Amino acid sequence: MKKSIIKGTGMFVPPNLIKNQDLEKILDTSDEWIRQRTGIEQRYWIEQEGATGSADLGFEASKRALKKAGWEPEDLDFIIFATLSPDIFFPGSGCLLQAKLGLDSTPTLDIRQQCTGFLYGLATADAYIKTGLASKILFVGGEVHSSGLDKTTRGRDITVIFGDGAGALCIEGVDTTENAGVLASSLHTDGNLANALMTELPASRLPIRFPEGVSLSDPRYFPVMDGPAIFKKAVRMLPKVINESLEKAEMDLDQIDLIIPHQANMRINQALGQFLKVDENKIFHNIQKYGNTTAASIPIALHEAMEQGRIGKSGDVVLFAGLGAGLTWGSLIYKFL
Ligand code: UT7
Repeated sequence: MKKSIIKGTGMFVPPNLIKNQDLEKILDTSDEWIRQRTGIEQRYWIEQEGATGSADLGFEASKRALKKAGWEPEDLDFIIFATLSPDIFFPGSGCLLQAKLGLDSTPTLDIRQQCTGFLYGLATADAYIKTGLASKILFVGGEVHSSGLDKTTRGRDITVIFGDGAGALCIEGVDTTENAGVLASSLHTDGNLANALMTELPASRLPIRFPEGVSLSDPRYFPVMDGPAIFKKAVRMLPKVINESLEKAEMDLDQIDLIIPHQANMRINQALGQFLKVDENKIFHNIQKYGNTTAASIPIALHEAMEQGRIGKSGDVVLFAGLGAGLTWGSLIYKFL
């Protein structure tokens, strides 16, 4: 059976650097609060709202990943795009990205799994490869949060966290007898907790998607989050789901070279490290530079970890894990060939 092997990674963030101090000027927050509670020091937002969508950021990340893999867009036989901030209501950002890549018939699939978009996306790519449905897949996680944030004090718990960005991966089905590629994954959803983190409007379930009499500054047009509840859920569920993948792969934590968690809050990832009793430098962090870029967080972190030489040699094993809106959570173990 073919193994799903990462052939190239790429990332892109827009050039507009927003430091915590810049946010102090527009809402009631402080650099100290943001650093202490989240670990974030800065994030990048698109320059001019409305001019750049998730597919644009994804396109830049994709070009870099394709170059690393030595692939042309025409080599792709499948594209998976994960985002909670699609460029337009429909069609999906995968379609828009495909056209930007100069393609006109390569199949695309959009997935809406928010912070676990990478985990669901890579598990899906692996299934397509193992069943022979595709052999050269581009996965992209891309988000433009900044055009949809409540940039008033009312929305400060979320607005200070989210950043824009994209990460991309080229994944190839390779014939090998080595135990490599995606070794195990474990995915979950609890839709009963959808209200804990969501943007409600515009909503197709209403007779009018933009309800009359509801102003565009209504909180229902912005993401709302029960932060403490999600924090507690993450700290409880992440170790559990990590152990599920370890069990499936018949491995233990000592065999993992690097853990790349979703970058939602530095304190969540530190608590995870304490719970798992792993050395602090075995957990990768870059939330300080980019904030939470949701579906882009893990692929950006993977790209940086590989660029820094933290992971990527033959035999290295990386464990990915995350929890976010849905609620969805999961983990995935990958071994480099
Ligand atoms: O990626 C998707 C999944 N999301 C997550 O995993 C997020 C998980 N949750 C979190 O990361 C944290 O809950 C937050 C960072 C969102 C909030 O941190 P917290 O330590 O849980 O704070 P809190 O919500 O309990 O609020 C504590 C205080 C409140 O003030 P009072 O009521 O104590 O006076 C908030 O109003 O902090 C206030 N606050 C802020 N103050 C300054 C909330 N946001 C801000 C802010 N600046 N940006």
